[in-house]
Amino acid sequence: MPVTRQHTTWGFVAAGKMAAAMAQDLRHARGNRVGGVVSRTPQSAAAFVSQFGGQAYALLDAMLADPGIDVVYVSSPNNLHYAQTKAALLAGKPVLCEKTFTLNAPQLAELIEIARSRKLFLMEAMWVRWLPLVTALRQLLQRGAIGQPLHLSAAFYSLPPVANDNRFYSPALGGGALLDLGIYPVSFASLVFGAQPHEVVSVAKLASTGVDTRFSAIFHYASGATAQLAAGFDGRMRHDIMLLGSEGSIRIEMDRGGWKMRRLHLEQGGGRRTLTAPYKGNGYGYQAAEVRRCLQAGLLESEAMPLDESLAIMRTLDTLRAQWGMRYPGE
Ligand SMILES: NC(=O)c1ccc[n+]([C@@H]2O[C@H](COP(=O)([O-])OP(=O)(O)OC[C@H]3O[C@@H](n4cnc5c(N)ncnc54)[C@H](OP(=O)(O)O)[C@@H]3O)[C@@H](O)[C@H]2O)c1
Repeated sequence: MPVTRQHTTWGFVAAGKMAAAMAQDLRHARGNRVGGVVSRTPQSAAAFVSQFGGQAYALLDAMLADPGIDVVYVSSPNNLHYAQTKAALLAGKPVLCEKTFTLNAPQLAELIEIARSRKLFLMEAMWVRWLPLVTALRQLLQRGAIGQPLHLSAAFYSLPPVANDNRFYSPALGGGALLDLGIYPVSFASLVFGAQPHEVVSVAKLASTGVDTRFSAIFHYASGATAQLAAGFDGRMRHDIMLLGSEGSIRIEMDRGGWKMRRLHLEQGGGRRTLTAPYKGNGYGYQAAEVRRCLQAGLLESEAMPLDESLAIMRTLDTLRAQWGMRYPGE
C-alpha cells in the first residue's frame, strides 16, 4: 500500500552515532521527520529526542505498535539487525537497515522472504548508492564512457577504538573490518560490474577475538574483469577508487578515513574531464528521500539497491569469511 502522508515519520532503533548522523540528515530530505527512538537506556533516548524530536520508547514493541511510525530505521550493532528487522517486518513496518544488513546470507534470505510475502518495503542502507556522484557514475557507465569495465581497485581503511568488546572487535556484536568497512568496496564492485565474482582469492589478518582486522581480495568475474579490494582497521588512510575500462578510466577522489566521494576524473580518448558533485550534510539524506519516494509510490524495494543484489553481496561476504575460517557465534 502506498504511504501518501505529508510526512514520512521514522522510528529509530538505537540512539548511537549513526542514528544521530541520519537524524541530522533527515532535515535535508524534505517530507521526512523523526518520530521517535528506542534505546536501551532512558538517558540516551531522552538526549536523542531532545535534539531531534519525536518520542522515546522503552521497548521496540511499543514503537512497532505505534501507527504514527511509517518506517523503521535499524542502526544497532550488526548482530542485532536480523532480529530487529524481522520484528519490525512481522509488525507490518517497512524497514531501512544499516549495513551490514545481516551477519550472513541465510539471515538476509529469511528477511527478504518475510518482506516479500507481507508486501513490505525493505532496503539496505548502502547510502553511497544515492549520492549525486554515484548517480553520475552510473550514467557514465551506462553510456559506455569507459567502454567495458575491466579492473577496479577500491579500499576502505579506518582506525576504530581497539577494545575486545566494542562493535568493531567483538564477534558477538558482528565485528570485523569486512562487515564494517569491506562491505563498501564489495558493494561498489557489484554496482560497477553488475555481477558477483565467480572466483575469489583472499587473505585476512584476524584479531585475538577472532574477527578480521584487515583483508585483501581479488575478485574474478565471468566476463574476465577483475577487482582488487581491501579494508582494514589500520589507520585513516585515503585510497582513491580506480576503474579501468577498455576505452578509458575513472578515478574517484575519496576523503581520508571515510567512504566519502569528492570528485570523479574521467579519462577517455586523450581527453580529461572532472565532475564535482557535492552532497548535503553527511550524505545520508539521499537514501531517506529514496525510501520516502518508494513508500509513496508503493514500491517494495529500490532499483538502486535491489534486495536480490544485497543478498548476492552477502553471499560474497560469506565466501570471504569462509576462506578465513571466520564464524560468528551461533553460525
Ligand atoms: N552508513 C554509515 O555510514 C555507517 C557509519 C557508521 C556505522 N554504520 C552502521 O550503523 C550501525 C551502528 O553503528 P554506530 O556507529 O552508530 O555504533 P554505536 O555508536 O556504537 O551505536 C550503536 C547503538 O546500538 C545500541 N546497542 C544495542 N545493543 C548494544 C550493544 N550490545 N553494544 C553496543 N551498542 C548496542 C546502542 O544504542 P542504545 O544505547 O540507544 O540502545 C548503541 O548506541 C552499525 O551496523 C554500523 O555498521 C553505518
